[in-house]
Formats: sequence, structure tokens, C-alpha cells
Amino acid sequence: MKVFLETYGCQMNVADSELVASILTNTNFKIAENIDEADIIIFNTCSVRQHAEDRVIGRINNEMARKVKNKNLKIGVIGCMAQRLEEKLQEQNSSIDFIVGTDQYKKLPEIIFNLFENPEFCSETIVNNNEIYKDIYPIHKGRFNAFVTIMRGCNNFCSYCIVPYVRGRERSRPVDDVLNDVQKVGEMGFKDVTLLGQNVNSYNYQDVNFAELLRQTNKIKSIKRIRFITSHPKDLSDEVIKVMAESEKVCEHLHLAMQSGDNEILQRMNRGYTAEHFYNIVQKLRKAMPEIAITTDVIAGFPGETEEQFQHTFDLMKKIEFDYAFTFKYSPREGTKAAEFSNQILEETRLERLKQLINLQQDITTKKYKEQIGKTKEIYVEKVSKKSDDELSGKSRDFKITVFKGDKSLIGKFINVRITDAIGWTLKGEIENGK
Ligand code: SAH
Ligand code: SF4
Ligand code: F3S
Repeated sequence: MKVFLETYGCQMNVADSELVASILTNTNFKIAENIDEADIIIFNTCSVRQHAEDRVIGRINNEMARKVKNKNLKIGVIGCMAQRLEEKLQEQNSSIDFIVGTDQYKKLPEIIFNLFENPEFCSETIVNNNEIYKDIYPIHKGRFNAFVTIMRGCNNFCSYCIVPYVRGRERSRPVDDVLNDVQKVGEMGFKDVTLLGQNVNSYNYQDVNFAELLRQTNKIKSIKRIRFITSHPKDLSDEVIKVMAESEKVCEHLHLAMQSGDNEILQRMNRGYTAEHFYNIVQKLRKAMPEIAITTDVIAGFPGETEEQFQHTFDLMKKIEFDYAFTFKYSPREGTKAAEFSNQILEETRLERLKQLINLQQDITTKKYKEQIGKTKEIYVEKVSKKSDDELSGKSRDFKITVFKGDKSLIGKFINVRITDAIGWTLKGEIENGK
């Protein structure tokens, strides 16, 4: 039987789908490359904002039409939305056959087999705060970049965020398991590895902290580049910055969510740092690694955000000049503290503020990319460019897509490219010395 997996949300979900693919293929299921050939469709879902949920609901409803033609087709929902809404999801759409939460993926084969025997709706959403899916080796998609999960869950309870409720408590995977997985993906040809967790800086396994884990990962010979997401400004230590700067494989690239530039809002978000602290870390990072690209997340229109407080966010973004920013308008999530705050901001104001942040960041990103012209960058060549057959495309250590003329035989290699232009958010270049 063939399963088609459709994934929404963050990299944790992408990694979880790779885990689910492994669990299923270990028990005689096959992964369908195309939805048309599927006997079972699984949606791995995200709850972070209402928009994310609405999109998936739309997709599920659309695909239900397939059941008319294929009476045996089963459709399941897993991931954060399954965890958040549980049976309520099925009440909204009675054609859903099964719902499985983020800690219960090991049960998937049994649940699906049973469904074909006895086609009754099934739901498994018990939270198990210890589940780390030990000894299950994910089936990595792609060829060059692999995610390796180092921890699951989150304990931070930022007041706007649903993640701690749908992903349970923070737990770190054993150091040796992480290192073995990294070694293995490297041997399989993935030379660029991203260590994954909701707050990787609080990784802790038997006294090995994140800085030490990075140090040890850097020694693994089979890989060439290391990245990690996500970092939390309150936990990103000087030691981690030092290890980043000292470790040749750790890339000059960091995603560090700012969320707001106003201290009162940051406090009400329960973020545990001030705007000054955040700015300080950025300064330290840039001092330690002058070439570092820093990206961020920012929320516009958090409950109670005044025009002046919003301006603080705008000003800090302007002052810092991130390479890129993911900007969101605040979306109330039922069950979180911020959703209960009485001073919710009008939707149109949220949108208006969001637009201002997007416009600001567009100019900054353009400027940042133009600044790359004239530099020589090491590019990990991934593919033939979409736009032209004689051009290749790859990524720099600071995660910028770079396109240049070159032969297909260079795919999978690391080469030096001199940047000659920046068009939108793509760098253009020439292979240095014709090599
Ligand atoms: N663990 C990561 C973030 C995961 S969620 C971190 O702390 O950096 C990704 C981003 O979604 C967050 O950084 C935040 O900017 C945004 N987000 C989370 N909940 C939101 C909400 N209710 N409304 C709008 N944006 C939200
Ligand atoms: Fe959500 Fe905060 Fe945890 Fe990130 S650190 S997942 S924003 S609660
Ligand atoms: Fe979404 Fe779940 Fe990630 S809510 S952002 S998929 S942890």
C-alpha cells in the first residue's frame, strides 16, 4: 500500500514527515511520489497561525473528492493541528479516517492496517513527553541538505505560541545518537546538515550542552557544513558564539527571532530578554563573525501594541539590518495566554503594521544582497538553474542562493564563485579562475 505525505509548517514537521516515512516503510508501506497513486493520504499539519490551519483544512476538503472515485482511500491528519484539535477535526470533516498526534507516530502502521480491516475512525493523540523516536532513522528527502533533530518539544511558553501545547515538554536526544546520525547523513552525501529543535540553545544531555554538541559535530569528517535552528536570544550563550566562530564547519548563518523591539511587549510575550540584550547579541555575533547573515522572525500587532511600541520594533529592525525577516501579523491561538489579553489589536491595524515591516525589510534585504557583489563565496552546488540550462544554482555558507555558468558535473561539489550581481534575492557570479 502506498502512502502520500503532504507536509505543512516548520522544519520540525519536515523532519517528522521523514521520520513517519521511515516508520511506514519499515512496515511494508511504500511512499507514493504522486498523490494520484496513493492508497492513503496523510497531511502533516501546522497550528502556529490561523492561516496555516485554514490552508490545510482547505486542502483536506479538496482531496476528499477522491474518495468518491476510490472507495478504499484513507485520509489521515497528523502533526500539530491533529494534536491541538484532536477529535474536533473529525467533527468538522467526518471523512477524515484517522488523527494521530505528534508523540504517537509509532502507532501509525497499526492504525492504518486496522482501518483496512475495520473502517472506523481512529484517533491517537496522547501526549508523551518522553518520546524521542529513538532508533528510528528518518528517510531524508533531497540530496544535499539534511535535518537532524536534536531535541523535541518546547518549555518556553511564549505567550502567543501554541507550540509548547502541541509538541509537549522539551527533551534532548542522546549525544551519541545525534552524532551518529550526522555522520551517517554525511556518508550518504548530505554535506550540509542542520541541527533541529524549537530552542536548540537549551540542548542538554547528561551535561553536554549545545556549545559542546556543536564542537563535537564540527569534528565529524563526513560533513562540510553545519547550521542549526532555532536559537532563542535568551539562551544563546557567549560560549555558543565562540564555538560558532572557531568551528570551521559551522556556517556564518543564524536565525534569531526578535519578535518585537519593545521591552514591554517582549515582557508580555514572555520572551525573557530586552531589546538591548537582543541588539547586544547581534553585535557580538557580527564581531565574532563579520560575514554572518542573521535572519529573524517578527510579529506585528501583538495584543496591546501601541503605535509607539510598534515604532520601536520598526526602528530596531532598521538599526540591525537583518539579511532577511519572516514577518507575521499576530494570530490569536486558543489556549495561549495572549489570546486572553483584552486589548487585541484591530485586524486592519495588524495588517497595516505588517506591511510597513515587509516594505522596510525588502529594502534592507536588497541592500544586503548588493553588498555581496565583488566577494568570493564558497558555493555548494545543488542543481541546474531553473531559468537556464547552462547555469547552476547552489547556496553560500550564509545561505544565499547563487547562480553561475558551469557544467553539470559540478553538482554536489563546493566551488568558489565571485559575485558579480544581485538580482532580487539571488546572487549571480562567475566561477573563480574558471575552475
Ligand atoms: N521556536 C521558534 C519559533 C517557532 S514558531 C523560535 O522561538 O524562534 C515560528 C514563528 O512564528 C515565531 O518565531 C513567531 O514569530 C511566529 N508565531 C508564533 N506564534 C504566532 C502567532 N500566534 N501569531 C503570529 N505569529 C506567530
Ligand atoms: Fe514558540 Fe517560544 Fe517555544 Fe519558539 S520558543 S516554539 S516561539 S514557545
Ligand atoms: Fe507549526 Fe508545529 Fe512547527 S505548530 S511551526 S509545525 S512545531
